[in-house]
Amino acid sequence: MPEEDAANLELTPGVMQAMGAEALSRTVAHLASIGTQPARGDVDAEALCRAMREGPPEHGTDISALLDSLFNDWIPRSFTTPGPGYLAYIPGGGLFPAAVADFISAATNRYTGVWMAAPALVQLEANVLDWFRAWMGFPETARGLLTTGGSMAGFNAILCAREHLLGSDIRSGVLYSSTQVHHSVVKAARLAGILPDRVRSLPVDAAYRMQVDTLSRAVRDDRARGLRPFLVASTAGTTNTGAVDPLDAIADFCHAEGLWHHVDGAYGAFFHMCEELRPVLNGLARADSLTLDPHKGLFMPYGTGALLVRDGALLRAAHAVSAGYLPGTPDPDEFYDPSQYGPELSRGFPGLRVWLCLKLFGTARFRAALAEKRALAVDAATRIGRLPGVVMVAPPQLSLFAFYLTWPNATLADENEATRELLERVTARGRVMLTGCTVDGRALARVCVLSFRTRQAQIDACVEDVAAGAAALTSGRS
Ligand SMILES: Cc1ncc(COP(=O)(O)O)c(C=O)c1O
Repeated sequence: MPEEDAANLELTPGVMQAMGAEALSRTVAHLASIGTQPARGDVDAEALCRAMREGPPEHGTDISALLDSLFNDWIPRSFTTPGPGYLAYIPGGGLFPAAVADFISAATNRYTGVWMAAPALVQLEANVLDWFRAWMGFPETARGLLTTGGSMAGFNAILCAREHLLGSDIRSGVLYSSTQVHHSVVKAARLAGILPDRVRSLPVDAAYRMQVDTLSRAVRDDRARGLRPFLVASTAGTTNTGAVDPLDAIADFCHAEGLWHHVDGAYGAFFHMCEELRPVLNGLARADSLTLDPHKGLFMPYGTGALLVRDGALLRAAHAVSAGYLPGTPDPDEFYDPSQYGPELSRGFPGLRVWLCLKLFGTARFRAALAEKRALAVDAATRIGRLPGVVMVAPPQLSLFAFYLTWPNATLADENEATRELLERVTARGRVMLTGCTVDGRALARVCVLSFRTRQAQIDACVEDVAAGAAALTSGRS
């Protein structure tokens, strides 16, 4: 890099080309070997992290040396989240064209926070949101927001409902969810001023779903105490067991009681794109607001969440401001202006990555991929459920299932220990990575199929490794 003119940070076309080519070739080589990288990298890295601490560099370094450290030493010390064997947590994506889009948006660096600064680019984001709206069966009045993830989508939904239903009387408002709700909803409530003593965590049924009669009693009790129930946060695919709450019955209840129904579809909502899976998600299209996470169900890289609000005017009312120094939008009903629908002004351009991937592949291929992930989960659950010593407690409603190990006379503590040990053994084998959860004191192993790279081969590997682990941990015990 030329040092003679220190204030000049511009690179020549030749240097840009070479830098881009080097980053591209390393990235492509990395992705080409992703299937053979261990499903969980070596994350025992405390010493490494300590050794990495350093002051700000006064002078520059050659890019090759920097990329060497990144690709050889640091990236491998992580969960292989984009790998085909990643069946842990809720798998993410990382479609390559999304990276191309991010490169273009960062390098061209246009301002997409307000409509007037880049109208055509903002229109691409508006198109993406409108496609989501149509796939989720929301009406044309709906508007939305691309966020950094499901957590921020949930936050904006609660804020919007709070503004609309509580106004300035925030303290008396009560929010309802189940014990299985994602912790981000509780956190979002707190950020939106709904403190933990105003959040009800309702017990679930045997299939880990919210129960409307329990909800109804809780709402009645709170009203009797002079509080103001305002929002029910249900889940379309819980993180623990993949349970889909009875969305339609909750929608009926909310409608009758004048409550806002927010559906957290961070994991499950995109399955609504598949016609044949809509019955599982029945009622989702009636939600007042919906979290949907393209970095899960649309296989985007992390940092891509989304929110839809049925009555878009309410989302705008929660966020719209005017400032003398900002350019206006010709007709706010016709032209979408992200800053009027969310808390941020300057932001990246997440719309481009979603738009480019959808245009390049076409929607049909996303539907096919989602349908395949569900079929793979059903196949894995069927085969694992037949193994001796396995109790399948949550068969896949979408593409996630949960189970535990048992044997004659085993205690809960024995079963928990063996189930956790199974996860460790399967993951240590390196072909797939599994994680578990604890529900009501019971340790569960879970498998979530949502990486676009997961195909039949990884499912076969998963079943084989679970079978071997289950046999070793349960057979002959009594
Ligand atoms: C059901 C559910 N809701 C919300 C979230 C939070 O989403 P994010 O991590 O994108 O903020 C997750 C994350 O896994 C989730 O599984």
